[in-house]
Amino acid sequence: MKNDLKQSLKERIALIDKSLHAYVCKKDNAQSVVYEAMEYSLFAGGKRLRPVLMTEMCRICGGSLEEVMPFACAMEMIHTYSLIHDDLPAMDNDNLRRGMPTSHIKFGEANAILAGDALLNRAFEVATEYSGDTPARALRAVHMLAVSSGTEGMIGGQVIDLSSEGREISVDELRNLHILKTSAIIRSACSIGALIGGASEEEMSAADTFAVNLGTAFQIRDDILDVIGDERELGKPIGSDAEQLKNTYVSLLGLERSKQLVEEYSDKAKAALEIFGDRADFLRELTDYLIIRNN
Ligand code: IPE
Ligand code: IPE
Ligand code: MG
Ligand code: MG
Ligand code: MG
Repeated sequence: MKNDLKQSLKERIALIDKSLHAYVCKKDNAQSVVYEAMEYSLFAGGKRLRPVLMTEMCRICGGSLEEVMPFACAMEMIHTYSLIHDDLPAMDNDNLRRGMPTSHIKFGEANAILAGDALLNRAFEVATEYSGDTPARALRAVHMLAVSSGTEGMIGGQVIDLSSEGREISVDELRNLHILKTSAIIRSACSIGALIGGASEEEMSAADTFAVNLGTAFQIRDDILDVIGDERELGKPIGSDAEQLKNTYVSLLGLERSKQLVEEYSDKAKAALEIFGDRADFLRELTDYLIIRNN
């Protein structure tokens, strides 16, 4: 990773983590285990891609980080809940996440389910605490959060992912699956950022085109890393997809074609940034880095 990108990312993530810590912290009460489990997964070392994208999209559209931060934190909570549930024995049955034992291994299945549920609730508590002077935009942002993580978004994608295990689907079906399970949340991260930043309709549309293509590239790279990654660097098990008989780009099209597709979708993502001029340089560099990421 280029030094400038590394430094900017580090600074942005520090701001995001500071806010997340203020929103989710341990409590010494009768239900303390659920707080502990929420905190454990949230601060296990995720890349914070979605809040980084949201805050950056907001910045380049002219908005303030302060105003978008509650939504960015809410999104990271929803993403973390989706990972806790994704790892459960009833889903992908994985025992390593963000380099640590998964929530159900550490706290038991019931607490992992509840910690996921609790992060989802907390996300909407935080997102609706908004007290800025554009409440109509904030309401639209909350709606986007809900829709993108629901049955026509992430949950829908997870349903198709699980129901397609063990039978081969077409590339078009896989693309739809990826758009729902992964791109939906990345799209709403970018759209909410643009919206809160005060984007024009044209900018909103560019942000969405960027996000849908970046999301697809990101999930194809995730599928590739499940085959060629290093468990220690990746922080999650290698070979899990093959073990669960998942449909992935690698299983359908092979490693080389999958690598080409990551580049093609990333190019499309970057092309959509043109409207933002050099204000989008950070997003361009981030997109380039994600093609070759190893975690
Ligand atoms: C993992 O997401 C799930 C996918 C959609 C591929 P990330 O790779 O962003 O996971 P963290 O947040 O860095 O742990
Ligand atoms: C999960 O996709 C996407 C979610 C909505 C959580 P994967 O099952 O491929 O994600 P990893 O590889 O476990 O992170
Ligand atoms: Mg999964
Ligand atoms: Mg998984
Ligand atoms: Mg995966």
